[in-house]
Amino acid sequence: MHERARLIAGNWKMNLEEWAAVELAGSIADGLGEGAAEVVICPPFPWLVPVSAVLQGSRVRLGAQDCSAETSGAFTGQVSATMLNGLCSHVIVGHSERRRDCCESNELVGRKAAAAIDAGLVPIACVGESIDVRNAGNAVSWVDEQVAAIVAGVGAERLGRLVIAYEPIWAIGSGRSASPDDAEEIGAAIRQQLRTSNPGAAEAVRILYGGSATPANARAYLDMPDVDGLLVGGACLKSDSFLEIVAIAG
Ligand code: PGA
Repeated sequence: MHERARLIAGNWKMNLEEWAAVELAGSIADGLGEGAAEVVICPPFPWLVPVSAVLQGSRVRLGAQDCSAETSGAFTGQVSATMLNGLCSHVIVGHSERRRDCCESNELVGRKAAAAIDAGLVPIACVGESIDVRNAGNAVSWVDEQVAAIVAGVGAERLGRLVIAYEPIWAIGSGRSASPDDAEEIGAAIRQQLRTSNPGAAEAVRILYGGSATPANARAYLDMPDVDGLLVGGACLKSDSFLEIVAIAG
C-alpha cells in the first residue's frame, strides 16, 4: 500500500475551446468512479470559471497553470494566487514551458510556490533537466538546484504543503517517456534532498512524474516508491485516457 495519497493532475496547456473544455471536464466528472487518488485538472485561465461550474459536487479539483509571485499591483497580464483562491485548489508553477518561454528563473519559481502557499493553494512545482544535462550525467544535480530554490522560496517549515513534479524536458510531448527507474532515481533524490530541510514533511510531499505519461505506462511509474502520481499533458485531453490513468492510480 502506497502511504501517500496518489495525485493525478491533467495539464491542459493552451488547448481546447470553451465548449470543449466544459465537455471534457463534464466527462471526467461523470466518468470518475470511487477512488483514493486525488484528481486535478488544470484548464487555461479563461475556462477556470465555466469548468468550475461543471465540477460542482464532483471530487475533481481545479488547478491553474501558473500564478504570479506577486499579490497585486502593476503586473500586466499576471494573475495572483489570491485571485485564484476560491476557484482553484492547486496551481502549477515552474513548468518547463514557462521557464523556457517566459524566462522563469529558479528563484522566481520558488517565489511563485511561496505565493501559492500564502494564498492557500497547493503548488505543483515542476523541475526537470534538458537532454544535454542528462547526457552529461548532471540530471540529479540540476534538479537538486531547482528543488533547492523551491525550498528556499517556501521555507523548510512549509515543505509539506508542496507537490513536486519531475518532468524531464526531453520527455514532454515527445512520446519518449523517461524509464520508471529514471523517474524513481530522481524522485528518490528529490525526497532525500527534502529530508535535509524537513525530514517529517519530506515523507508527506507528493512527487509526480510527468512527460509522455499514458495509460500504457502509468502503472510502471506509480509502482515506484517515490513516484506518487502523474502530471499528464497530451493524454489528459481525452476523458477516456485520463480516466484510465486515474483508475490505474486507484
Ligand atoms: P505530456 O506533457 O504528457 O504531453 O508529455 C506533460 C506536461 O508538460 O506536463
